[in-house]
Order: sequence, then C-alpha cells, then structure tokens
Amino acid sequence: MTALTTQSPIRLLQITDTHLYGNPAGTLLKMNTQDSLDHVVKILKRNEKGNEFDLILATGDIAQDASEKAYAKFVDAMQEIGSPFRWIPGNHDNIDVMEKVAAGSDVSEKLVQINNWQILFLDTSILGQVHGNLSKSELEFLKDCLQTAQADESVDHCLICLHHNPVKGNAGWMKDIGLNNGKEFFQLLSKFNKVDCIVYGHVHQALDYVHAGIRCMCTPSTCIQFKPKVGNFALDRLNPGYRTLTPSTDGSIETEVVRVTGFEIEADFASQGY
Ligand SMILES: [Fe+2]
Repeated sequence: MTALTTQSPIRLLQITDTHLYGNPAGTLLKMNTQDSLDHVVKILKRNEKGNEFDLILATGDIAQDASEKAYAKFVDAMQEIGSPFRWIPGNHDNIDVMEKVAAGSDVSEKLVQINNWQILFLDTSILGQVHGNLSKSELEFLKDCLQTAQADESVDHCLICLHHNPVKGNAGWMKDIGLNNGKEFFQLLSKFNKVDCIVYGHVHQALDYVHAGIRCMCTPSTCIQFKPKVGNFALDRLNPGYRTLTPSTDGSIETEVVRVTGFEIEADFASQGY
C-alpha cells in the first residue's frame, strides 16, 4: 500500500473508458478514441494548470483491443498529464496484459492512502463478459481493507473505485450489463461506516447520486457517450470528458465534470450497439 501525506484537500482525477487501440487510427463507432483522449488531455492541462492531482483514478475499459500497445499509449497519456495513476480493468480489458505493461510499477496497486482517505481499486471484470462481478477473493480483499480501516485511526474515509455500475443502469439495454452482485457489495459496505464514495465508469455518462447512504458517481468516457433513459442502445451527443474530485478531511467531496469544447464529435449516432 502507498501512503501519502499531501495537500489538503486532496485532489483526484477520474479518467475512464478510454477504449484505446494499438493502432492509433482505431475507431469505436467511428470515433477515433486516441484523438478524443488527446483532446481531453489537452483541455485538462489547460483547465487544471497549477492544480496538482495527487492521483488519477483510471476506472477501466482502458483499451478496446486489450493490446500491449494500447495500454502503453494510455501510460503515455497519463505521463502527459503528469500525475501518478492506478488502473483497474473493464470488460474490454485483459488484466494479464495490463499487468505485463505495468510490470515494475505500482499502477495496478489496489490500495492507496492519501491523508485520511483510503482509496480502494476493485476488479469487477470477467474476461469475455460485458457484465461485472466481484469475485469471492475481491470481496474478501474489500472486507479485510474495511475491517483494517475501521480500526485504523489514521483512516476516516474510504473511496472505492470500480469499473461496472454497482446500481442498475438508467437505460433499458443496460439492465444486465452492470455489477451482478451489487446487492452483496452494498450489504458488505453497510457493515462499516467509513465508505463515503464509490466512483465507476462503464455506462459512459455523468451521474452523481446517493445509494444506500453512499455517494455514487459515474464519469463520462473520454470517447463515446451513452444516452440515459432510453430503451435500446443510443449514443448521446455530449462531448468526452473527465471528472475532478476534491475530498476534504471531513468526508465531503467537491466534484466537477468537465467536457471538451471546440471538438466536433464524429461518431456513428445511428448505431444500435457497441
Ligand atoms: Fe466502456
């Protein structure tokens, strides 16, 4: 575990669902995912100039083709931002390839403490499946971390990072693609009282709500966006973006979703799936 004592309040950045390809010309529903990430990084560097991020939370679907090259390109983008990051796999990723690319670094580390916040990174991916699951070992890890945090006076708050939505998605086609043991996950969390926030990706949209007493946030993808409250799959016309999080020592969190501007979206808006 990395433990950092840093600025107060701490500053976090969530980057999610970059869907990169080894081939920089790779497109997802006709959107060039490298190009859209480059635009996000460019606007982020301009907007956040002078604001140091203590950590970047990269919440999965890092690559669309699970290639070493795509993961290396993601590492390049994080270096361009210039802050440390931790990543977790999404349904399009391959954790073995990610770990190969991450060998010798701490980017796959699952637990980081920054000031009085503990940040946990859980793997919800199942290779070859769109939906997610927290395995027995992942739930055990979570339980161990929360038990330790409960007894640790230096930890007041926990933030959990996932790829899959732990609460059912807000579109008809999303009903079976989330975390399939979300109930079990929230039941476990209810036994502890330091978990203040859950952040995730997967459904490519901005959400900020409270479920079972815990603040839950989803962040736009750096590429295509999914339209909420529709029956069948549909792309939204909102631009790619990122989220900043500023957790205070008292457990409150200021947050902002920033979308790129001056970027003409090119995507297949007639597509019925991805
Ligand atoms: Fe995704």
